[in-house]
Amino acid sequence: MSPYAHITGWGMAVPERVLTNHDLAQIVDTSDEWILERTGIRERRIASDEQTTASLATDAALKALEMARLNPANLDLIIVATSSPEYIFPATACLVQDRIGANRAGAFDLMAACTGFIFALNIAAQAIRSGDVRSALVIGAETLSRLVDWKDRNTCILFGDGAGAFVLQADPQRGGLLSAVMRSDGSGSDLLSVPGGGSRHPATLETVEQGWHYIQMKGREVFRFATRVMAQATQEAVENAQLTMEDIAIIIPHQANMRIIEAAARSMRVPIDRCYVNIESYGNTSTASIPIAACEAVQNGRLKPGDPVVFVGFGAGLTWGAAVAQWTGPFPGTRPGLPVRYRIYARLRSLLKRLLRRIDALFLWSDD
Ligand code: COA
Repeated sequence: MSPYAHITGWGMAVPERVLTNHDLAQIVDTSDEWILERTGIRERRIASDEQTTASLATDAALKALEMARLNPANLDLIIVATSSPEYIFPATACLVQDRIGANRAGAFDLMAACTGFIFALNIAAQAIRSGDVRSALVIGAETLSRLVDWKDRNTCILFGDGAGAFVLQADPQRGGLLSAVMRSDGSGSDLLSVPGGGSRHPATLETVEQGWHYIQMKGREVFRFATRVMAQATQEAVENAQLTMEDIAIIIPHQANMRIIEAAARSMRVPIDRCYVNIESYGNTSTASIPIAACEAVQNGRLKPGDPVVFVGFGAGLTWGAAVAQWTGPFPGTRPGLPVRYRIYARLRSLLKRLLRRIDALFLWSDD
């Protein structure tokens, strides 16, 4: 029988720097009242110059591994879902793999915009169910503040930086990820995009002058799409898990707009307090919003072992999806992890490997 993919560790990392609506009102023509009423956001976190998508992802990953008491050397798979990767390539996941010393793990990035964490969770769970992978790390990480046009009040009020991570481990007992729905509709690709810097419009002086390296968004249309798909995906995933909406202890939606979450809750016919909401403090952190909200829900006692939980999101692509899980927690009897030690050891190992590569190049291939 296929094993189940249990969520045994979770961790989050957000920058210390807070940008409030009042701060934004100093930069663009907006107000705290407008932003709060239309979005539910009060403040968001902004990465420092030293922080990047990979550094936030690494911090969240080490916390999740510590929670799961899993040595990174035992990881088979790392997926980083991100809309703001460190580079086009190499994958941000490879940078994380090196920094945590997960020397056995295959690592890749998954781009499905804000739905990325749900897609990544499902792909990792399927890998575990296949029997080839015993433990996986799934991360949602963003520094969207670097893709935002700070002169565009339509977008700069919405986004924030942060990362969240889950550890998934195989176990024959029923639990963990029970079902997932993944959907997309590329006919809406123009509604939310970063058009410049890819192979279609490589970065030139002109693309930079046009601002194509910034997020472009048709907000009203994205809003309408989001309110339509959230309930549909949730209901389908819940049915596939052979549960009913009444069985669900908590819904953790993508934190994009409070009004979208309220409309989705109405369509699902669930009271709004069954949805976990922390948009007020972080804004829209894209792929990181669901794992960050999950970490806080556990911390606040809203999500407990055994609870059936729905994760639901939508984003550019267009993409949308939902996943149903039975929350697990760390497997009993495992030894506590030491993330600081992992970090130092991984750094030393990486430096040594780089040095050996240089020595190889100097001595072994000097005839070329
Ligand atoms: N401050 C003050 N006024 C603003 C503003 C701001 N930050 N942004 C827009 N406005 C103005 C508009 O110019 C418009 O003025 P007008 O009527 O004079 O033309 C008015 O407010 C209403 O704009 P509208 O775009 O209809 O507002 P809205 O209620 O749809 O809210 C969003 C705008 C962006 C908050 C909302 O559409 C939204 O959240 N959409 C989804 C976006 C999203 O989730 N993206 C990420 C997906 S993962």
